[in-house]
Amino acid sequence: MNLLRKKSVEQSMRDTEQPEHRLRKDLSGLDLTVFGIGVIIGTGIFVLTGVAANQTAGPAVALSFVVAGIACALAALCYAEFASTVPVAGSAYTYSYAALGELIAWIIGWDLILEFVLAAAVVAVGWSQYFAVLLETLGVTLPPAITGGEGGAFNLPAALIVLILTAVLVAGIKISSRLNAVVVTIKVAVVLFVIVAGLFFVKRDNYTPFVPPAEPASGGSGADATLLEAVFGQAPANFGISGIFAAGALVFFAFIGFDIVATAAEETRVPHRDVPRGILGSLAICTTLYVAVSLVVVGMQNYAELDTEAPLAAAFQAVGQPFIANLITVGALAGLTTVVMILMLGQSRVAFAMSRDGLLPRWLGRVHPRFGTPHRITIIVGVVVAVLAGFIPLEELAELVNIGTLFAFVLVAAAVILLRRTRPDLPRGFRVPWGPVIPTLAIVACAVLMLFLTVETWLRFFAWMAVGIVVYFLYGRRRSRLAHDGQEPPPMPGQPDLDTGFGSSSPPPR
Ligand code: ALA
Repeated sequence: MNLLRKKSVEQSMRDTEQPEHRLRKDLSGLDLTVFGIGVIIGTGIFVLTGVAANQTAGPAVALSFVVAGIACALAALCYAEFASTVPVAGSAYTYSYAALGELIAWIIGWDLILEFVLAAAVVAVGWSQYFAVLLETLGVTLPPAITGGEGGAFNLPAALIVLILTAVLVAGIKISSRLNAVVVTIKVAVVLFVIVAGLFFVKRDNYTPFVPPAEPASGGSGADATLLEAVFGQAPANFGISGIFAAGALVFFAFIGFDIVATAAEETRVPHRDVPRGILGSLAICTTLYVAVSLVVVGMQNYAELDTEAPLAAAFQAVGQPFIANLITVGALAGLTTVVMILMLGQSRVAFAMSRDGLLPRWLGRVHPRFGTPHRITIIVGVVVAVLAGFIPLEELAELVNIGTLFAFVLVAAAVILLRRTRPDLPRGFRVPWGPVIPTLAIVACAVLMLFLTVETWLRFFAWMAVGIVVYFLYGRRRSRLAHDGQEPPPMPGQPDLDTGFGSSSPPPR
């Protein structure tokens, strides 16, 4: 078995034409941009701005957004080239199958689960917290046992919103993108309102010191140190110049999602033109908004006093504007809804591509005859996210999401360089300018951010990837369609045919 076997780009494109595995081509460039903004603006800006400013970077958090934004822009260019060359569902997974071979493709697919599933659960938990705040302003207090609060057993609102959104996704992507467009409008309006209204309450004093001097992290243990600190034998520290980068590695979460635009390439009418537009457009808009919002918020309140749960709303409370605070809460709630939904959409499309290739059971990837969506995968993803969101307090796992995503970006940038060498002949709707320079810079920028994540995050990441490699050798390596010359693999000996979910003598399901 060849671990480096590659799936040709032509084969990937042909696969999209299989009737049972064909998605509807319904989306335009504008749809994609709106989709992008829908998933990008979320917990990152509404919650993590406060955490990063208060604990790691001070007012310089705006620079952290710039640092993370630069890394993302470099990676986004690479995604745009790939998506315009291989407009097939599956994003980084599909690209690395073409350029780097099956094992790496599997590793990426497994890694993307970390990004999408875990991030969806993190954001659903954030959603439930804002929901609780909203209910409280309406005079309703939910018992902590069902809100995942202190001592709570199950976060019911988080699980319920995930299941409702799963139903929307099953019903069809066009419905989902319409709902998304409405919510995105509300969300962007609220963010703009924060910037404009907040300006009136900015105090110059709050910007000094702009970069607070470095200080030892209180109670930090060895595993709390960043990988960089651990390598150089330094104790964990906050603030200072390195604090800007450490906060950058955290607020990177705020940018996650532009790559999901690429996962919808196969459902786009003119992918060569629209996918680069969608990715770069949504990223540019969000970066501008983030830098503006973070500058305004640290100007309204001293960074040491910033709230770490609902910092934007709390900043307006602090300056005596409860009405604006409530408005922000509603906007955040709407904003987080679309983030959860599109993260799940991204996951279902990656799993769809993996099942089409036989790395996951093929029956999972059947498209619903009426809705035209991969309903089985969507439902499984929804249930897993609902369970995770229901049981696990996930805030610190945002870093785990980040490391998984940064790793995917590194591989995509490497794949752009490789595919240009191995397949210079392919028509590329969009080319990253300056040859290998930008992909190389993307690799360096993402790797640097990864160094600023904690040792604990790295250990969790390695554990997850180790499990993935075991799964590949137990299942995907033998069941891959490439291993069987593009044909359906035979059922495993002595077992029912996992690919159809029936015994091998049963008729295939409709
Ligand atoms: N970028 C998304 C957020 O900030 C994941 O919530």
